[in-house]
Amino acid sequence: MALYPTYPLQTERLTLRPFTRGDVDAVFAYRRLDDVALYLFDVALSREECALAVQQRIAQVALEAEGDKIILAVELTETGALIGEVSLIWRSVDARQGEIGWIFNPTYHGHGYATEASNAILDLGFGPGDMHRIAARCDVRNDSSWRLMERLGMRREAHFREHAIFKSAWDEEFVYALLWQEWHAMRHPESSD
Ligand SMILES: CC(C)(COP(=O)(O)OP(=O)(O)OC[C@H]1O[C@@H](n2cnc3c(N)ncnc32)[C@H](O)[C@@H]1OP(=O)(O)O)[C@@H](O)C(=O)NCCC(=O)NCCS
Repeated sequence: MALYPTYPLQTERLTLRPFTRGDVDAVFAYRRLDDVALYLFDVALSREECALAVQQRIAQVALEAEGDKIILAVELTETGALIGEVSLIWRSVDARQGEIGWIFNPTYHGHGYATEASNAILDLGFGPGDMHRIAARCDVRNDSSWRLMERLGMRREAHFREHAIFKSAWDEEFVYALLWQEWHAMRHPESSD
């Protein structure tokens, strides 16, 4: 089922919206940092590379075909500050599989904003997106990321050891996932009695 969300998505403290051309400096503020890039496939980005990334994200607002991505800017509703981004990838149309991801500006870590935005993305995928399973993966050393997956109620499904090369060394990866029925039971605990 194709997914054309109506934007913005609102949560208690956050506004999730498509990227715009005016977002380049706010994105550069965190994508230029080596700490942020440590466990990303990308290295730290130049301002020009950021401008290109934002340009691509402007069009990544709907899921029409397998492999499509929705990547949304996350704003603090109270101030309008852009604090990070969350993504949803359509991995399999037939099996209704999705994958979520996140990158936040370190200035805004530690407040539960990534959890709040990611819960909204899970609700989008499992609700209007009609997905059956949504996964997430990270380097095993990326404690902040797998702890976020656990806060979201995702289960650790795999620990891949030396399964790939990442930044010139063996990669160790955790895969977490959530099934539709697990998400539904979390959101509607009364109906699982
Ligand atoms: C992964 C990442 C998004 C996690 O960010 P985060 O700030 O740890 O996550 P949250 O915004 O959900 O905040 C959770 C923290 O805030 C605290 N917190 C405060 N208020 C909270 C609330 N209302 N709800 C939930 N947590 C809250 C939690 O206790 C937790 O603190 P802890 O880490 O000391 O246990 C961030 O580390 C990041 O952007 N990393 C760089 C990019 C990256 O590696 N991306 C992933 C690639 S796989």
